[in-house]
Amino acid sequence: MKLRYLGHSAFKLTNGNYTLLLNPFISGNPLAVTRPEALKPTHILVTHGHADHSGNALSIAARTGAQIIAPTELADHFRSKGAKAHAMYQGTQIFEFGKVRMTLALHGSYLEEGEEAIYAGNPCGYVIHCDGKCVYHAGDTGVFGDIEPIGRMNGPIDCALLPIGGNFTMDPEEALEAADLLKLRLVVPMHYDTFPVIRQDADLFAGNLMRRGIKGKKMAPGETIDL
Ligand code: NI
Ligand code: MN
Repeated sequence: MKLRYLGHSAFKLTNGNYTLLLNPFISGNPLAVTRPEALKPTHILVTHGHADHSGNALSIAARTGAQIIAPTELADHFRSKGAKAHAMYQGTQIFEFGKVRMTLALHGSYLEEGEEAIYAGNPCGYVIHCDGKCVYHAGDTGVFGDIEPIGRMNGPIDCALLPIGGNFTMDPEEALEAADLLKLRLVVPMHYDTFPVIRQDADLFAGNLMRRGIKGKKMAPGETIDL
């Protein structure tokens, strides 16, 4: 399975038959290396309503017919706009490509439509089991003690995508704590450097992970790794 970083909190997971797009914030993303039109996912997973996550989900779904997977209120919103959306709460579901477990995220969630803020339910993270691999996208979240069973129940997690930007999510110190609680092997930092308020030193973070026996992989936007 291949993992491509699209900048900020956006990733693409491909296994040949299926292409999963996570948090496709492409237009207006200063770190974007692709155009929304270049993406042809079969499924789009969105962790919460904020524009830097729901981003281009609707337009990509409209063009490709991709199914959107999202927390229920957000899925209902996407459906009201004509998208094919699968609604979940924190729980597990089997899809054609594999198993998805929606996990807790400590954050907020709303959508902006003009001047209006629309409630988008609870934010979430995703544990994705596909192709014999397990990938955890934590979404936007702070660190919390109940992150520990996510590692225990799904472990070993082959690759975890953790936010490190601080201010809105975990900072590097908090992400280290999360990595310990989750008993991780490989961490890819995300949600940093996109805007001045979330500037962080990902190399320093990777070094601190290494001292704990965990591999930290700083991915450049556009970079792809094999899992
Ligand atoms: Ni957010
Ligand atoms: Mn965010």
